[in-house]
Amino acid sequence: MAALLLGLLLFALQSPPLPSRPLADGGSSPPPTLSPADNATASHPNGTLQQLPQIIIIGVRKGGTRALIEMLSLHGAVAAAQNEVHFFDWESHFQKGLPWYLSQMPYAFPEQLTVEKTPAYFTSGKVPKRIHQMNPNIKLLLILRDPTERVLSDYTQVFYNRLQKHKSYQPIESVLVKDGEINLGYKALNRSLYYVHMQNWLQYFPPESIHVVDGDRLIKDPLHEMQKVEKFLNLEPQLNASNFYFNKTKGFYCLRDHGRERCLHDSKGRAHPHVAPAVLQKLYQFFHEPNRKFFELVGRTFDWK
Ligand code: A3P
Repeated sequence: MAALLLGLLLFALQSPPLPSRPLADGGSSPPPTLSPADNATASHPNGTLQQLPQIIIIGVRKGGTRALIEMLSLHGAVAAAQNEVHFFDWESHFQKGLPWYLSQMPYAFPEQLTVEKTPAYFTSGKVPKRIHQMNPNIKLLLILRDPTERVLSDYTQVFYNRLQKHKSYQPIESVLVKDGEINLGYKALNRSLYYVHMQNWLQYFPPESIHVVDGDRLIKDPLHEMQKVEKFLNLEPQLNASNFYFNKTKGFYCLRDHGRERCLHDSKGRAHPHVAPAVLQKLYQFFHEPNRKFFELVGRTFDWK
């Protein structure tokens, strides 16, 4: 009994502190802070330690975020969190504070940079401010692809998730169009309005802190896109052509890491549904103006239809 009580006491002492008050407004209160000196947990005997990320892949959902983090972790100076952490967007996680966030990070050597990816951050209004409060100098990676393709990819993911749960699903045309017009209530459509979300990030971070990775190019020419990422992160150029090989069966590039070859999970690179040409055309037209606004915002154009 005494041992049990002692165990409980020790557990309570080790639990990360909760924020001093609940975040009722979902965003204006800062998370509990760690002092800069506490920026890492006690080191592991092999010399590794957990650090708060110096890089975050903020999205976009279905933009190619998994490919990006996997390719980035081919670099010896990068340690990547395996799972999506959802710290800044999920209230229940955010309330656990930075000590909890830190505990989700991989063990890294002190000279390595830590990266996590949570694609939902990009479209969550409260996230930019929260990340800025943690570290205003953090480097952000945003991977985008043609917004229409992204919507179809988003639909495909939800379609398969529902299929797995034996739930019904609607044909794509009926979620995209309502009363003959593009259905503005469809969430996946909103996620592809890149300028709306980007405006929010640019209120907190200068453009130099956000590198936009071209997701369509990452598919076709990963090395070229990744070399730009290395440059943005001031990493020594390390990735080379031998890190990538095209897998004809998958129809995508796969990764080679010290001779070990691996492709992304089968859920990445699935065929999209066929969409009636007239609906597809409507969708392309719908994104024309939002895309133009995004190009203006970032001072760069993308090869989107
Ligand atoms: P699709 O499955 O619609 O083709 P995310 O990881 O953000 O969910 O993005 C998934 C998308 O990553 C895939 O969308 C796929 O097109 C893209 N992708 C980019 N490079 C890839 C690669 N090397 N292997 C598989 N998918 C890749």
